[in-house]
Order: sequence, then C-alpha cells, then structure tokens
Amino acid sequence: MKKVYLDNAATTQMRDEVIEKMTQVMKEFYGNPSSVHSYGRSSKSLIENARKTVAGFLNVSASEIIFTSGGTEADNLVLNSAVRDLGVKRIITSRIEHHAVLYTLDHLKACYGIEVVYVNLDKNGEVDLGHLEELLKASDEKTLVSLMHINNEIGNLLDIKVVGEMCKSYNALFHSDTVQSVGHYEMDLNEIPVDFTAASAHKFHGPKGVGFAFVRKHSGLKPLIFGGEQERGHRAGTESVHNIIGLEIALKLAYKNLQEEREHISSIKNYFIHQLEANIPGVKFNGTCKDPGKSTYTLINVCLPVSREKALLLLFQLDLKGIACSRGSACQSGSDKGSHVLEAFLSEEDLNKPSLRFSFSRFNTTQEIDYVVTVLKEFLEN
Ligand SMILES: Cc1ncc(COP(=O)(O)O)c(C=O)c1O
Repeated sequence: MKKVYLDNAATTQMRDEVIEKMTQVMKEFYGNPSSVHSYGRSSKSLIENARKTVAGFLNVSASEIIFTSGGTEADNLVLNSAVRDLGVKRIITSRIEHHAVLYTLDHLKACYGIEVVYVNLDKNGEVDLGHLEELLKASDEKTLVSLMHINNEIGNLLDIKVVGEMCKSYNALFHSDTVQSVGHYEMDLNEIPVDFTAASAHKFHGPKGVGFAFVRKHSGLKPLIFGGEQERGHRAGTESVHNIIGLEIALKLAYKNLQEEREHISSIKNYFIHQLEANIPGVKFNGTCKDPGKSTYTLINVCLPVSREKALLLLFQLDLKGIACSRGSACQSGSDKGSHVLEAFLSEEDLNKPSLRFSFSRFNTTQEIDYVVTVLKEFLEN
C-alpha cells in the first residue's frame, strides 16, 4: 500500500546520520558521565560539546542550556519553578498553547492559587498584542508571559522579539515554547529578550525523549527533578548520552540544510494549498497558515466542506489509504475531545466541519500531495 506521512508536527522521521551516530555512542560511550574514570569523562565531554553546539545555534552560553526529556519537561520546569522559586503570582498565556503549558498552569493555579489570564485572539487565532499590553499594565503582581513561537496545530507564528520587548518594558518574565520552531527557524536569543524557551529533538529529525530548556543566566530557576548533580544541579538523573548526541547531530543537520529544506518544504506547502483550492470548492484554511509572513512553512490546517456525519469517516478513510495526518477538528468523533486550539477562535459553523492538519518535511514530494488531493476529492464527491 502507498504510504504518505504528513504528520511531521507530531513527530519526524529520524535522519540516517543521527541513527548512525547514536548507535556509535551507545556502543562506545557507555560510561556514566558522572563517573570520574576515562569512560565517564568521555561521555561527559560528548555532552558538554553538545551543549556548546546547541548554545552556539541560539547564540547563548552553554550554561544556559539544560537538557531534558523533551519539550513537555522543559515547559514544566520553567513554569513550575517560576511560580515556586521566582515569586511569579500571575501568568498571562493564550488558549492555543500546547497542553504541556495549559495543563501545567491549571495545576499551578490549583496548587499555588496563581492568577492565569488569557490574552485575546482574533478570528485567525492571532494574539492581540494591544490586549497583551493592557494585561501587562493592569497589575503590579510579579508576572510571567507564556506564549508559543509557532502554534503546533495551526502554524501561527508569533513575533517573540516584539513580545519579549513588551514583557521587558513591563518587568514581566517571558517564556516561549519554541518546540515547533527550533531546527526550522534560526533564532538569536541574544537579540530576542526571552527568559526561557523549550525545544524537542523529535520535531527536527532527532530522537524522541530528549529536548532542552534555555534558561537565561541568573534567572534563579531551580530544578524540578531532584537527585544527583547532573546538568549542573538543574536536572537530576543520569544523562541519556545517545539521545543528547542525537539531538546535537539532528540540530546541526537541520541548520546546515535549513535554506534548502525550507525552500523544498515551502514549495510543497504552496503546491498543496494550490491543489486544494483548485480541486476542493469551499475548502478553508484555519489560522494564518495561508499567509507565509504569519505562519510556519511546515504545516497547514484545512477545514473541509463536509457534513458532520461524513466527517466521522474521514481520518479513518485517509488512514486506510495510507495517509497519515492529524485531526484538527472539534467534532469528528463523539468520544474524542475536540481541538482546544480551533475551539479558541473558530466560528461554531466551522467547528462543525472536519479540520485536518497536514505537516511536512524534507522527505515529502509533490507526487504525494497529488495522491492526497485525489483521495480527498474522491471522498468528498462520493
Ligand atoms: C508546541 C509543543 N510544545 C510541547 C510539545 C511537547 O514536546 P515533547 O513531545 O518533546 O514532550 C509539543 C509536541 O507535540 C509541541 O508541539
């Protein structure tokens, strides 16, 4: 059966070079990085080199990078410690953040009684920066703003430099979940006044179960996981050496090939938009995903003109045809929870139609897009 993978925002296929390097590390660098003998020192030095590599790409210092088990842990680390250790009493966020942020904030509200405020969004899910400024102005409580760089469901891109500068001028801390942008966008954190970010290797052709938090120097952030002195005391637990090196290689390759892959992926995205518009009357695009200046080049979120009943069969049908994408709709199955992202800004009418997220990588081709459009067209016409 033909197979087409268009779910790269969920996770990506690992690059061969990453797998090869990780295999070598697992075979040869099995010493515990905390051991003082040569085996341990070799593993430790691999990790510290990887830290330097990551820091170099973000233009920060190595001591500001903390390796974690992924994006979820990095978000949890920052938000929990900000409240517990930094005296944050109020958090401004949006309803379209990842659950790694939203559910952590629910927990912090319940445990510490912090105030969580949601910034307004427009009809495309864009953050209302005027409202953000009003919220920042409205209170003298110690505030942290948590707003993601690229939305994982609709692809909206936030100008984190502008937000960071605004936060700075009101003395608020700024955390940005950059899980969907690290490895896809160049980022100079020396120029962007952000205090904390989160990243995850499996979103840029690296391994699952590893990521990092960027924690600005002297922020006072304290660990979430206690035990040994790993990660300079910021994150206990024996380091996953092969995963960290996998992350390093994946990031190096991502930035080495950035321009070329970005052009390829953008052309796939544009071709898909064009083919959908040409073949599926009434198709709509959620969020800003059709506007290249306002959204990531890596995904689209499409609202299809289909009845509610038929929508139930859609993902199932695509899966039968070997096509992998993500459900983005609020109501395709009675038992499933809808998308909290689409629910935050779509009209009731559009929420009643199925929405799908297709997300791309360097491995996709226009032939695959033709196949998907043919399958969708057939489904809609029958
Ligand atoms: C925006 C965003 N934040 C956080 C995460 C969680 O990252 P991880 O899977 O590494 O825990 C994801 C992954 O889906 C994501 O897209």
